[in-house]
Amino acid sequence: MDYYTNSLRELQVGASLIFQHGSGIDSKIMEKGIFILLVFLGVLAVSKLLFALSTGLCSPLTGGALFTTTHSSKIQKILDSVLMKPGQIVYDLGCGDGRFLVSAYRRYGVRAIGYEINPLAYLLAKMRVWLTHSKVDIYYKDFWKVNLGDADIVFCYLFPDVMDRLREKLTQELKLGTQIISCNFAVPGWQPDKILKADHSIHIDPIYIYTFGI
Ligand SMILES: C[S@@+](CC[C@H](N)C(=O)[O-])C[C@H]1O[C@@H](n2cnc3c(N)ncnc32)[C@H](O)[C@@H]1O
Repeated sequence: MDYYTNSLRELQVGASLIFQHGSGIDSKIMEKGIFILLVFLGVLAVSKLLFALSTGLCSPLTGGALFTTTHSSKIQKILDSVLMKPGQIVYDLGCGDGRFLVSAYRRYGVRAIGYEINPLAYLLAKMRVWLTHSKVDIYYKDFWKVNLGDADIVFCYLFPDVMDRLREKLTQELKLGTQIISCNFAVPGWQPDKILKADHSIHIDPIYIYTFGI
């Protein structure tokens, strides 16, 4: 917040100096420009604050798996490589802003279900579903409390501190043949069918694909 407060103060001082000494620039245009800048900085500050608050609120439950998103190039690569059928049940464990599920639904007509515990991410996911008219179910719920026995495909982008616990959960609940897609981090001790990399110069983290029980 100090950064934004200081920036706003500097802007105010700068603006008053310019107005006092007469800069030759039309003062109305200057005023408008400064107003727009202030609004922009305000929106930025509020969104950063909301992000910090919502992340802090749920961090005891999420561990290291904070709200970040999977890049569209990775989603593209996954959907090109993991073929899905209409009606198949696809879970995203910690669905963030819902981008993977909405893309999977739009491409394949799967039954897409997401669980999210970060309030901001949950709201963004609901908004995305609403704006894209997608038939995707987003729940504000801890995914550890959900049974995944009916899953055909499980997608996740979680962090190493929860991957052991995730393997235990998947091992107990999944039916044979369920596909697991794990972005960036492997499921410890499991042998992937394949490891994908997006066609992108930066977003080249591994994407691990598994078939449960095979
Ligand atoms: C790295 S982000 C990935 C978001 C999304 N899956 C994607 O790939 O764009 C991980 C998300 O998992 C959520 N999350 C972590 N633990 C969770 C839990 N126990 N229940 C529900 N959501 C959880 C976090 O809030 C965060 O939004």
